[in-house]
Amino acid sequence: MTAPVLPADSPDAIARAAAILRESGLVGMPTETVYGLAADANNAAAVARLYAAKGRPRFNPLIAHVSGIAMAQTLASWPDLAGELAAAFWPGPLTLVLPKLKAAPICDLANAGLDSVAIRSPGHAGARALLAGFGGPLVAPSANPSGGVSPTTARHVSDGLGDKLDLILDGGACTVGLESTVIAILDGRATLLRPGGLERARIEAITGPLATAGHADAPTSPGMLASHYAPGAAIRLNAVRAGAGEVLLGFGAIEGDLNLSASGDLAEAAAGLFAALRKMDALAPTCIAVAPIPDEGLGEAINDRLQRAAAPRDGS
Ligand code: TXA
Ligand code: MG
Repeated sequence: MTAPVLPADSPDAIARAAAILRESGLVGMPTETVYGLAADANNAAAVARLYAAKGRPRFNPLIAHVSGIAMAQTLASWPDLAGELAAAFWPGPLTLVLPKLKAAPICDLANAGLDSVAIRSPGHAGARALLAGFGGPLVAPSANPSGGVSPTTARHVSDGLGDKLDLILDGGACTVGLESTVIAILDGRATLLRPGGLERARIEAITGPLATAGHADAPTSPGMLASHYAPGAAIRLNAVRAGAGEVLLGFGAIEGDLNLSASGDLAEAAAGLFAALRKMDALAPTCIAVAPIPDEGLGEAINDRLQRAAAPRDGS
């Protein structure tokens, strides 16, 4: 049986979703980055169901979504730099990894037993209404089977996980289209764990140059989750034309069978990237060739996702 889809701007739908979460259920939640698979952060049974629904390895910790700084402060200690970043970019596509408080209302399973916790306050009105209605932190990984392409519409959620969750809130197409940027502040300085929907330069204007660490999608062993965000077809990067049996995903002047942004706008390309990969995959090509994307601004995160989509799949 596939989960019902209700409009995220309906107060009745939000009340029903909050009730489902209180009863250990799973809800597809719209955010401005990608759709999340939400569960009560402090309910180990619900979080165990969430990991099983996604087929996600339990060593890969989840992000706790909060309504704002006050709720975030129940979860983690709060260095000055975190306060400055949250004041500048929350609600929005920025996740902060901070030292977890002992009494934090989050089960060990949700953050893989680490002494840190990842926290984000999403900007989408549907997510904000659900957090207000539920009244506590919600963990939410992207609402897709682990390793696959992240969902940017309610339909994508329904196609991938519709039979494994209890309700999907439809909040329209995600406006950012890439997961949040993940920044750790654990030793006083800011470290980039995952490039994402908030550009590096905007963060560095506050933090100064970011340190870089292993990618957040490979928390225990670098490269372990190298293949991620992957469609069914193989991916070939930096292509200028399609070879035999290939489809070409264009950008700017390289028109392609489908163009991420004819004007070369990286925000437009980010917003449409995952839906475009799904569309091209549905054509069942031998390979999806992708035009070069400049590695600046949001291009850093777009190229990160494309490289993971193109990575060898065996063993992951
Ligand atoms: O935009 C987003 O961040 C979306 C929407 C739904 O909010 N969520 C999302 O969640 O992308 P997920 O689970 O796909 O990615 C969470 C990332 C993973 O790379 C995970 O390893 C990292 O955050 N992470 C979570 N807790 C961490 C921690 N304590 N230390 C280091 N990395 C952590
Ligand atoms: Mg994900």
